[in-house]
Amino acid sequence: VIQPTELDTARLRLRQWWETDLPPFAAMNADPAVMRYFPHPLTREASDAMARKLRLLIEERGWGFWAVEIRGGDPFIGFVGLRVPSSALPFSPCVEIGWRLGAAHWGHGYATEAALAALSFAFDQLLVTEVVAFTAIENWPSRRVMVRLGMKESMEFDHPDVPTGNPVRKHVLYRLVPDRLASEGVR
Ligand SMILES: CC(C)(COP(=O)(O)OP(=O)(O)OC[C@H]1O[C@@H](n2cnc3c(N)ncnc32)[C@H](O)[C@@H]1OP(=O)(O)O)[C@@H](O)C(=O)NCCC(=O)NCCS
Repeated sequence: VIQPTELDTARLRLRQWWETDLPPFAAMNADPAVMRYFPHPLTREASDAMARKLRLLIEERGWGFWAVEIRGGDPFIGFVGLRVPSSALPFSPCVEIGWRLGAAHWGHGYATEAALAALSFAFDQLLVTEVVAFTAIENWPSRRVMVRLGMKESMEFDHPDVPTGNPVRKHVLYRLVPDRLASEGVR
């Protein structure tokens, strides 16, 4: 077991998952507003399974989709972090940055603040040369986070895990290469 990385930002802490995160995570995942751009909300069981999977990945690698808390405030507001997607995507292999916050915590810049810390970790510690993000094409709140992070729109694709005909199947990919790599012409 690798010591799980914790990342602190001005307002937030990205950390390993706790058992006490499960109820608020399940509440988020049952909220149709939070799950609007996913095929369906998650049952308590599916939500718990996802949290435990995310915890296990952090245990194995030291990094992942971290639980996010407000330092000195709400102990759990959602997740932000990095993963290697398990689905076969047209741009695999890749390292993905992703986020999901409870609706009460939207509109404060938390996703962007946490994502910036995760990106620094990816480029400075993991030494990856590129981070991608993707979401359903209609998910403008998430696309705005990608743009705020300096990511560049790359291509549209159908997410293989979303059934054909489902409106959230159409996805858009954004890519981010750090400046120094871009200027050296590495990619
Ligand atoms: C995607 C999601 C995380 C975006 O959350 P968000 O709160 O809009 O994004 P940020 O944390 O970056 O906050 C930025 C917003 O806060 C506002 N804001 C307020 N105070 C701020 C501050 N101190 N710093 C920065 N932004 C601030 C910004 O103006 C911006 O609002 P705008 O987009 O209306 O202009 C959220 O909508 C979500 O969890 N959705 C459901 C799950 C989901 O779809 N995840 C993505 C799947 S790929």
